[in-house]
Amino acid sequence: MQDKKVYIETYGCQMNVNDSEVILSILKDAGYVRTEDMGEADVILANTCSIRDNAEQRIWGRIGQFRIQKTKRDVIVGITGCMAERLKEKLLDSHTVDIVAGPDSYRSLPAMLRAVTPDNPQINVLLSHEETYSDITPLRMDRNGVSAYISIMRGCNNVCSYCVVPYTRGAERSRDPKTIIREAEDAFCRGYREVCLLGQNVDSYFWEDPDTPDDNVNFAQLLESVAKVSPDLRVRFSTSHPKDISDEVIYTMAMYDNICSHIHLPVQSGSNAMLEKMRRKYTREWYLGRVAKIRSVIPDCGITTDIIAGFCGETAQDHRDTLSLMEEVGFDSAFMFQYSERPGTLAARKFPDDVPEEVKTARLNEIIALQNRLSLESNRREIGKTHRILIEGVSKKNGNELFGRAGNNKVCVFPAEGHRTGEYVHVRVLSCTSATLISELIR
Ligand code: 5AD
Ligand code: SF4
Repeated sequence: MQDKKVYIETYGCQMNVNDSEVILSILKDAGYVRTEDMGEADVILANTCSIRDNAEQRIWGRIGQFRIQKTKRDVIVGITGCMAERLKEKLLDSHTVDIVAGPDSYRSLPAMLRAVTPDNPQINVLLSHEETYSDITPLRMDRNGVSAYISIMRGCNNVCSYCVVPYTRGAERSRDPKTIIREAEDAFCRGYREVCLLGQNVDSYFWEDPDTPDDNVNFAQLLESVAKVSPDLRVRFSTSHPKDISDEVIYTMAMYDNICSHIHLPVQSGSNAMLEKMRRKYTREWYLGRVAKIRSVIPDCGITTDIIAGFCGETAQDHRDTLSLMEEVGFDSAFMFQYSERPGTLAARKFPDDVPEEVKTARLNEIIALQNRLSLESNRREIGKTHRILIEGVSKKNGNELFGRAGNNKVCVFPAEGHRTGEYVHVRVLSCTSATLISELIR
C-alpha cells in the first residue's frame, strides 16, 4: 500500500513549530509521509494558536479553505494545538473538522486517524501532567539544516491574567535532561550548528530524577550541559521570565562562547499598575535591575522583548511609562501587540476590556514607531564591530549574498564569496537598516 500523505500548517510560536515536528515524527512511524502540497494530501492538519483573537480568526479562514478541499475529494481535516484545546467540540460545528487533538494528545493521532469516519469525528483534548514527548525525535521541518528547536519543557504554571496558555497547554513539566542532551548531540551529528531550547518559561526548568533525587538539574545546569555538546554548536533559548531569570543563568551564558548573548525578556508593560494587574510578579524597577545585571556581566548582550498595548484600564500615563521604559532599556527589537481579551482568562473574568480599539491602535503604533527608532539606533552602534556569524542561507534580495545571525541575534548580510550555509564566518559591520546589518567578510 502506498504511504498516506500528510500536510501540516503551523501557526503561533516556536514551540508550535517544534510540536508540528513531533506530530510528523509520530505520523511517520504510523506510515505517513509529509507533503507540502495541500492538494495531494490525505490528511490536512492545522497546528493552531489561540494567543490572540486574530490568530484564531486566521485559522477559521483556513478551515473555510479546507472545506473547499473536502468538496473535491476524500480528505481528513484535523485541528491540533492550542485552538483545539480551547474550543474542543465547538470546532466540529464547522462540519469540516474530523479530528480535534490538544497539545498533549499527539501520540493518539495514529489511532484517531484509523478510527475517524465522516460520521465519527475524533477528539482528544486531555491535558497531561507528564507528557513531554521526550522519546520522540522530531522530524525537522526547517529548510536549512542549520538550526533546530528542542523543547525542554511544556505547559506553564504562571498566571499572567491576560494569557490563555496555561489553559491550552496545561501545567508546567520539565523534560528529562538526558533526552534533551541526546537530541542536541543527534542534531549536531546530523550537521545542525545551532539549537534553540524552548519553553514558556525556561528559567523555571527543573528536573528531579526519581531514582536519584539529589541529582536535580536547573536551567543554568542544563544550559551548560548542552553548551558542552560541542563548542561548534551554538545554544539559544527562549523564553525567559523577568521574575525568574537567575544570576546563575547569566554567569553561565558569560562562561561559554557558544551560548549566544541574547535574552528574550518579555516586559509586557512599563507601568507598575499594569504589571500588577497582569500578575507578572515583578515591578518596573525589578525589570530594570535584571537588565542592568545582564549588561554588567554580558555587556554586548542582545535584549529583546514583548509588549502589550492597551491592557485593561491602561491610562495615558501607564502607556507613557511603557514608552519610557523602552527608551531606558533600548531594546534591540520587540514583538508588539494590542491587548486581545481571551475568554476564560483571569483578566476576562475580572477586568473590563475598556481601552477603546482606536486608542489601543494609536498606542501600539506609537510603540512600534519608537521601537523602529530604537532598533535603528541599536544597529548603528554595531557599525565597525566584528561578529562571528553562523550562515543560515542565501539572502532573499541578492543571490550573491548570504545571511546569518550574530550571537546577539542580529541578522547580518554579506557577500557569499564561496561560503555556504552552516559555516561560521567572521564579518565586520559596514552599515545598517533597522532590521539588518550590512557587513563584509573578514579573512
Ligand atoms: N493579548 C495580546 N497579547 C498577548 N500576549 C499574550 N497574551 C496576549 C493577549 N491576550 C503576548 C505577550 C506574550 C506574547 C507571546 O504574546 O506579549 O509575551
Ligand atoms: Fe504558542 Fe501560546 Fe499560541 Fe499556544 S497560544 S501556540 S503556546 S503562542
